[in-house]
Amino acid sequence: MADSHAKMTQATPREIIVSVLAGLFAPLLAIFLIVQLVLGIQDNHKPDATDEAAQQATVDRIKPFATLVALDANAPKVEKSGQEVYDAVCTSCHAAGALGAPKFDNKGDWAARIGKGYDTLVKHAIEGFNQMPARGGDGDLSDVEVARAVAYMANSAGASFKAPEPSAAVAAAGTAAGGATGNPAKGKAVYEAHCAACHAAGVAGAPKFGDKAAWEKRISQGYATLLEHATKGIGAMPAKGGADISDAELADAVAYLYDSNGGKL
Ligand code: HEC
Ligand code: HEC
Repeated sequence: MADSHAKMTQATPREIIVSVLAGLFAPLLAIFLIVQLVLGIQDNHKPDATDEAAQQATVDRIKPFATLVALDANAPKVEKSGQEVYDAVCTSCHAAGALGAPKFDNKGDWAARIGKGYDTLVKHAIEGFNQMPARGGDGDLSDVEVARAVAYMANSAGASFKAPEPSAAVAAAGTAAGGATGNPAKGKAVYEAHCAACHAAGVAGAPKFGDKAAWEKRISQGYATLLEHATKGIGAMPAKGGADISDAELADAVAYLYDSNGGKL
């Protein structure tokens, strides 16, 4: 007994160190495991948190665009001024004369071109001309916006072209888009695809195709006015008949309606 007691109390320093370390190690291990567990739980939650954050970020990012689209769909497009169009689109080539573009404010570059006349220049700017891309490469520009940019540029270099005003603009757009007016032959297909829905049977009070009486007074307003009304919408007639068509296509369709219902283009 005494022997063994002596043995117990006479632990070597090594034994003491081992037991002390073991005594410390056990709780440390427990703490370590608990920490691991907590971290593990946090880790599991992390992807959720970032997903939510990412979703929120995406929503925030597309919000202005979505709002813009909604605005665009409901509000009539606000035509940009010549200077706005020039600054946004044309300046990239016409400021420094890239690809041989006539330079802004350079009379020498523009004199001969101005001599061609405003209508020709507008037509070239809309349709493209050699290295000059159609609409300066921005297909979203309306004919009127391009026409205004042409006037703005040419006038900077000595011309005194009158840029189309919003209402007169539509007639000018017709001019630029397909000669004096839209092309009735080309307009038939556009009519059948986009306008017949209402105009064939007279839906919503639309003047019926072939009904001379329904068209007589309208035709007497003249083609340009009809085109303007069809462009902007009138009464129950939505702008462009609600169709996603170009100004030129609309001009053709109106020309077809005009020509087929007693008008003479
Ligand atoms: C990618 C370069 C580029 C952009 C962008 C550009 N142009 Fe041009 N433009 C040219 C070049 C090159 C010419 C000269 C073409 C030629 O005469 O062969 C030119 C010529 C013209 C002419 C003269 C046409 C003629 O008959 O002499 C007009 C008008 C014109 N551009 C208008 C515009 C308008 C308006 C815009 C913006 C909506 C625009 N351009 C954007 C390159 C460009
Ligand atoms: C959703 C039905 C609907 C569609 C589609 C439609 N229209 Fe109309 N349109 C009308 C109605 C209704 C009127 C009569 C509006 C009024 O005078 O109040 C009208 C009138 C017109 C007029 C006469 C405007 C005036 O000043 O008297 C023209 C021109 C015209 N539409 C052209 C078109 C063309 C071109 C298309 C196809 C691109 C088209 N419409 C598609 C409903 C429609």
